[in-house]
Amino acid sequence: MPEPIIVVEHLTKRVQDSTGTLTILHDIDFTLQAQRSVAIVGASGSGKSTLLAIIAGLDTPSEGTVRLAGIDLFAIDEDARAAVRSARLGFVFQSFQLLGNLNALENVMLPLELQGRSDARAQATEMLRHVGLGERLRHYPRVLSGGEQQRVALARAFVVRPALLLADEPTGSLDFATGETVMELMFELNRETGTTLVLVTHDPAIAARCDEQLHIEAGRIAAPALASLAALRAEASAVGSGASPARISS
Ligand SMILES: Nc1ncnc2c1ncn2[C@@H]1O[C@H](COP(=O)(O)OP(=O)(O)O)[C@@H](O)[C@H]1O
Ligand SMILES: [Mg+2]
Repeated sequence: MPEPIIVVEHLTKRVQDSTGTLTILHDIDFTLQAQRSVAIVGASGSGKSTLLAIIAGLDTPSEGTVRLAGIDLFAIDEDARAAVRSARLGFVFQSFQLLGNLNALENVMLPLELQGRSDARAQATEMLRHVGLGERLRHYPRVLSGGEQQRVALARAFVVRPALLLADEPTGSLDFATGETVMELMFELNRETGTTLVLVTHDPAIAARCDEQLHIEAGRIAAPALASLAALRAEASAVGSGASPARISS
């Protein structure tokens, strides 16, 4: 088997607050093979966003390691981590995080320009057409609907053909139908570009569509309750994809 795209080992995150030390993540281990999709599920406050931010190299662990495509993310300096992010990662957040003073096209061109690509305009235009926004190239985020803004964010994330896409509740601020459209697009881009997908979600139907599920409970990996696993499997077979629980190494 090739080197997994993500190897997380003994990952622990502690923060200091007014009452002392709070352990947000406890000794997390997991691996993910390239081109797979995994859903990170768990109650609010269980540590999902913190885990995603550490995998992205945007936050640092207190203990443990993260290897992305063989690169030990916290053995290199911040500049080198930024270079890994720019070359290999895409992000989609619940809150879209578009730049308000740039139009849709400029938002999608930006990551390509940061890579010094001369074909940024053509590539960004093509990707916006692909997400159905060919008629919205010059629109600014404030005049786009939530679903349109999230499609711009998806185009921006996928335009660099990242090896890994990290999405934190990407449909969390969209209505159901719009969320479905955005999610459909994300799985389609995942299939087309071979991008590995790590998706934080509250939605069991979305989790069931991923190849694997990682359940986090109070900062620890939890085996899914039998009942909820059965429910996930039933939903997965209903949508015709084979779901299996995340492979957890320990
Ligand atoms: N920098 C921080 N300082 C103190 N507590 C934090 C910090 N970041 C996150 N937390 C706490 O850690 C827990 C996990 O947060 P988070 O990863 O955002 O959870 P989730 O995304 O699953 O809702 C929460 O209780 C949150 O309040
Ligand atoms: Mg969160």
